[in-house]
Amino acid sequence: MTEPCTFIIFGAMGNLSRKKLLPALYHLEEAGRLPGNTAIIAFSRREMPQDKWFAKIDELLADQVRNGTKPEVLARLHQRLQLFTGDMTDADSLRQLKQNLQDDDTLPGNLIFYMAIPPTLYARVGQTLANAGLNEEDHGWRRIVIEKPFGHDLESATVLDESLHRHFNEEQIFRIDHYLGKSMVQNVLVFRFANLMLEPLWNRNYIDHVQITHSETQGIAGRANFYDGVGALRDMVQSHLLQMMTLVAMEPPANMDSESLRDEKVKVLKSLRPISRQAVNSHAYRAQYVQGEINGQSVQGYLGEEGIPENSTTETYAALKLYIDNWRWRGVPFYLRTGKRMNRDSSIISIRFKHPPQQLFRKTHIEKIKPNWLLLGIQPEECVRLEMQVKQPGLEMLTHTTQLDTSPSDEDGPKLDAYEALLLDVIENDRSLFLRYDEVHWAWEAVDSVLKVWDTERDYIQTYPAGSWGPNSDLRLFDRDDHAWRNSLEINDEA
Ligand code: BG6
Repeated sequence: MTEPCTFIIFGAMGNLSRKKLLPALYHLEEAGRLPGNTAIIAFSRREMPQDKWFAKIDELLADQVRNGTKPEVLARLHQRLQLFTGDMTDADSLRQLKQNLQDDDTLPGNLIFYMAIPPTLYARVGQTLANAGLNEEDHGWRRIVIEKPFGHDLESATVLDESLHRHFNEEQIFRIDHYLGKSMVQNVLVFRFANLMLEPLWNRNYIDHVQITHSETQGIAGRANFYDGVGALRDMVQSHLLQMMTLVAMEPPANMDSESLRDEKVKVLKSLRPISRQAVNSHAYRAQYVQGEINGQSVQGYLGEEGIPENSTTETYAALKLYIDNWRWRGVPFYLRTGKRMNRDSSIISIRFKHPPQQLFRKTHIEKIKPNWLLLGIQPEECVRLEMQVKQPGLEMLTHTTQLDTSPSDEDGPKLDAYEALLLDVIENDRSLFLRYDEVHWAWEAVDSVLKVWDTERDYIQTYPAGSWGPNSDLRLFDRDDHAWRNSLEINDEA
């Protein structure tokens, strides 16, 4: 049985807490999934009377949760909530927190520390928790949850990891990549390993290439301070996109326990062909958005965003070509790309199969057979679609493309937010969907040379108009002339 715990949110008034954590906790409360007398302590610098704070939470939840809030769920949630005012970098504040936890015997002794704070503070707050003795498992277990980015590059990730490991062991550290909590990302595993049909085709003999695209119409959403020092490669590719790639490419794990699963993901990352510094330009591409139009509205360029230095060359678009040098995938390019202020909000994994070995229909009206595509729509549309060629009705030998579609319907249940699944996993101690440190290490290793070269070439960056599908010149990444970005889940004439 899952044990109750005290869930302590550092940075409780911040963006992540307001937009993701509190709504997820509300939904878990509604679903009756918060065990026993589980309590939630919102740790914040800001002092506020309890009634005012509850009113604030109710207001923000009303905007965020599915189908509006229910008074009885809110009332149950209020019972669990406490506000603690303090400074998380000050050991005295944390000693006071420890004292409160000990004095209040309604609070469960198992503690989760959720770092909804700037990543630059992880190591410091970890140290302060230890100084206050809050890492000691004297009255129950301790778990610490941190969000990406884990470090800024390979070196800083190692330093951060060493620092956290001084006070917490690996079993206590939950590194969140929220993409792994998305239901369609998990569906990649089910689709691959619960169906026999595709496995014989899932390799270099039948798959021509794989594309993983995440595009957003939003800009940097007021996060200039964070984003300008980070850029698209670190923000999305090193984490979310590489994670999706590992799920597409991994071998079946020995079983579904967290270590077996993560062992297989690490093997994929370890098998990535290193990109030498000389090869960076043929494997990686970056660009920045300039003024353009999205949904009929004019939007400014990156350099016009508040807080961005006028000469910034931070990339808001990044594309990468990778090869996994193992038996299954050698020679199959994996193209990854992401961008802000692009044409549409969507995340899609597109897998293109090879052409049939014989052009049987060459002498008919069918001039060129189109290849099969398997499309995994991650968001906003969740689906698995397989594109096939069929004969058009009529006297002529003509084909058209059709799609077999497994989109879930509304009857399949509500669309959950990734955080609901992930917070429950922390409470239940299931680490399968959290990153082990070696995954983080190898993911940094994969992009390290690109980051280093880009960091030294800071004079100029290519641009793309906001609202477009990114720069055209990144087509040079493609191995062959008939490779091109696939932008949508609809049947079209692309490649
Ligand atoms: C975050 C990035 O990790 O993921 C953001 O920092 C990005 O820049 C976001 O917008 C995308 O997540 P989602 O769930 O909205 O696709």
